Amino acid sequence: MICIQDLSFTYKNGTEPALREVSLTLPDGDFLGVIGPAGAGKTTLTRAIAGMIPHHYTGDYYGSVTVNGLDTVETPLDQISRLVGTVFQDVESQIISPVVEDEMLYGLENFGVPRAEIPRRLEEALGMVGIADLRERSIASLSGGQRQKVAIASILALKPQILVLDEPTGELDPRSSRQIFTLLRKLNEEQGITVIIVEQKIMLLCEFARHLAVLNEGRVMRQGEVREVLAHAEDLEAAGVNCPRVTTYSRALSARLGERQPVCVDLDEAEALTRRLMK
Ligand SMILES: Nc1ncnc2c1ncn2[C@@H]1O[C@H](COP(=O)(O)OP(=O)(O)OP(=O)(O)O)[C@@H](O)[C@H]1O
Ligand SMILES: [Mg+2]
Repeated sequence: MICIQDLSFTYKNGTEPALREVSLTLPDGDFLGVIGPAGAGKTTLTRAIAGMIPHHYTGDYYGSVTVNGLDTVETPLDQISRLVGTVFQDVESQIISPVVEDEMLYGLENFGVPRAEIPRRLEEALGMVGIADLRERSIASLSGGQRQKVAIASILALKPQILVLDEPTGELDPRSSRQIFTLLRKLNEEQGITVIIVEQKIMLLCEFARHLAVLNEGRVMRQGEVREVLAHAEDLEAAGVNCPRVTTYSRALSARLGERQPVCVDLDEAEALTRRLMK
């Protein structure tokens, strides 16, 4: 379980708090989507969960974050890293080796994974992300999307219980983005891995996430099940967050017909609603 209580944080060289009295509780096995406009504090929240705040980024820190009962302030960063695997928004700063395989080995060796187990872990993680063919490639020769996949595979190879991904599909095409979400769902459902993902592709996010947290100016302006949060579409739009088109569509349709209908979160629901209202 991850428990964030009244967390406020101002970066050492910052003037305004990046997070303000944030409280969120995530049960084991949750799948949380984090959305919000630029500068809302999404990345800062992921850093706090991963313990990089306050261990790596210092500043004024109030409140608490516990991960599986460990207070992230008191727990050494390397211990938190064994629980929480993070894919950074800035993938370039995450990748340190010149070749894909070395990049993955670096993490595995650092974690002291037994030698005999390493080849299997490598193959498994590359296969899951669908980049077995990139294993011997130099990082410099890869596209942005391929680098993103390498960063994801490197983290998966370490088998964290909690996965924090900060806009991991930013450079990926729609098909690869869906593949990553499908993989995350599989890890979440089959292995109970907790997934926390910051994502701009709202439609995809709403299809896969169980809960949503909407950040705005460092505060959590809404949190709850995807459908509950989308029901407050006006608030989200006021904060500069787009709702999935099907949600906007279903709200407009219900309004036009003067009926209150639950919001739709995917195409199937929008189709069913349309058919019902057309009868
Ligand atoms: N390393 C840092 N040092 C100082 N201030 C920072 C640092 N990182 C972020 N900030 C500030 O903290 C606030 C929240 O930034 P954050 O990166 O968490 O937002 P975000 O929601 O992830 O934005 P984006 O959508 O652009 O990725 C911003 O005002 C930003 O300028
Ligand atoms: Mg960010």
